[in-house]
Amino acid sequence: MKPEEIRQKFLKYFESKGHKIIPSASLIPAETDPTVLFTTAGMHPLVPYLMGDEHPKGKRLVNVQRCIRTGDIDEVGDESHLTFFEMMGYWSLGDYWKKEAIEYIFEFLTKELGLNPKDFAATCFEGDEKNGIARDTEAYEIWRSLGIPEERITYLGYEDNWWGPAGNTGPCGPDSELFVWVGEGEAPAKFDPEDKGWMELCNDVFMQYNKTAEGKFEPLVQKNVDFGMGFERLVAYLNKESDIYKSDQFWPIIEKLEELSNKEYHDNKKEFRVIVDHLKAAVFVINDGVAPSNKDQGYVARRLIRRSIVKARDLGLTSELSKNVLPVIFECHSELDSESRNIYEIFSKEESKFINRINSFLMDLEVIAKTKIKTESIDYKPIEIDGKQLFDWYQSEGVPLEISLEEAQKRNIKIEKNAEISFYQMLLNHKELSRTASAGMFKGGLADAGEETKKLHTAAHLMLEALRRVLGDHVMQKGSNITAERLRFDFSHPEKMTDEQKKRVEDIVNEQIKKDLTVTMEEMTVEEADKLGAMGAFKDRYGERVKVYSVLEESTGEVFSKEICGGPHVEHTGELGHFMIKKEESSSSGIRRIKAVLK
Ligand code: ALA
Repeated sequence: MKPEEIRQKFLKYFESKGHKIIPSASLIPAETDPTVLFTTAGMHPLVPYLMGDEHPKGKRLVNVQRCIRTGDIDEVGDESHLTFFEMMGYWSLGDYWKKEAIEYIFEFLTKELGLNPKDFAATCFEGDEKNGIARDTEAYEIWRSLGIPEERITYLGYEDNWWGPAGNTGPCGPDSELFVWVGEGEAPAKFDPEDKGWMELCNDVFMQYNKTAEGKFEPLVQKNVDFGMGFERLVAYLNKESDIYKSDQFWPIIEKLEELSNKEYHDNKKEFRVIVDHLKAAVFVINDGVAPSNKDQGYVARRLIRRSIVKARDLGLTSELSKNVLPVIFECHSELDSESRNIYEIFSKEESKFINRINSFLMDLEVIAKTKIKTESIDYKPIEIDGKQLFDWYQSEGVPLEISLEEAQKRNIKIEKNAEISFYQMLLNHKELSRTASAGMFKGGLADAGEETKKLHTAAHLMLEALRRVLGDHVMQKGSNITAERLRFDFSHPEKMTDEQKKRVEDIVNEQIKKDLTVTMEEMTVEEADKLGAMGAFKDRYGERVKVYSVLEESTGEVFSKEICGGPHVEHTGELGHFMIKKEESSSSGIRRIKAVLK
């Protein structure tokens, strides 16, 4: 089935059930919510109506909303993660409730699209006594009444079956997810949400709470339904494909790249996917009025374009993407307003700016990869990349940090231990200099990225201590990766954390933020640090003298955390804002991974 046919069937079906079709809102939510960069879900532009305002089109709405999610950008390159995607959505604004919501989507999928309910499984919210939120037996019974057997329905907690708010505060509620079997052979009788053979297809969120700034759930003035289903995923599933890039919305672009590079998709899937994903995302962001720049959405567009160009070079593709590939994207997406928005002009301007500098970056990398330096002993050792090199590339060639790191790693070039941190230090120093010279080059965007990263470094220290208090002393840091948007943190722990444990860790961190503790730094030897009980994940790798950062209550001297670390850190925890764990998952055997953010 063609994507457009599926889109129309969806809109028409819900129109026949009394829903009004509304257009996709802009990807830039400035008017509805200035605190987030992009529209991340169909409900986002509808927040005022979920809160009780009257929508001019009535209480039942349906659309396909363009969305951008940059949170999982590391995962782009696999079969199903996308930066830009479309979300099919329908809404009841204080009108129908769970029964109709679930029955509609069940009927649409089985009758209109011909899916087999024998391949279905569902999850419902398990409830939260402490906050007085009941187990969602109502949704459970509705799935049962539609013929889904008991062993195919599971109750899960906040991480899986709770959605929203989209920002810090606002509408949210328990949700119920529908899974389909995509694994080998027939669907197993019993549903196991951890089994990758089950793919989440869509979810109904029963939005009946407003999360307040204090973290309380208050009932909304009305009970809403907020439904979401990834369009690209559905299209692939209906075409019996697990790889979303094989559908009509992507494949012609892939074919064009194959032709231009003389390489095959099957041998270079990751590069092809990243290029296509990033190009499409950049094109749609530009379509909604944003030009690449050093700030906010413009900086995201810039990074997307630059990363796609570097990946194209990795495939040996040097011809202009704007001239050769953009026209294919326009053909695949007739909804793009390519004429009036000057997408081509804006894109190609950014492309030519970067292409002039990329060659020098790539040549530097080749030289570094081949050079070995003579050390004091007779050995020769490879060059390591340090913070200064990263900063030089960034400043003179315009190469974003993560691209330098990624390209270096790909060539097996070692990165010096403190390279990232000293990059940010140089960025901050440069910002100070630029300020005095009123150079203005680092206004917003990148300079802020340094500040955000610093905050997340401090948050990581608070979190490690909180994890040890909640889970036990066996918790040790096993790795971390911090960007301006989020922290990723690996630690030793044998099992999945419960929702309760995650909540306690969040609470402990947020308490330390509220107390506005002081962060101090002392230099000492490793032995002295050890004696003081400072945590240090890689003690054996440190030099003689190390920096020890402590987070403490200044009036009493009471220390919350003490860690060996290169820094930099904020001076007071009060600067951090609100700490939230976004994801907790397995990283490898005995090691868990947390993704967390500050809002
Ligand atoms: N708002 C819900 C989602 O994004 C439907 O999945």
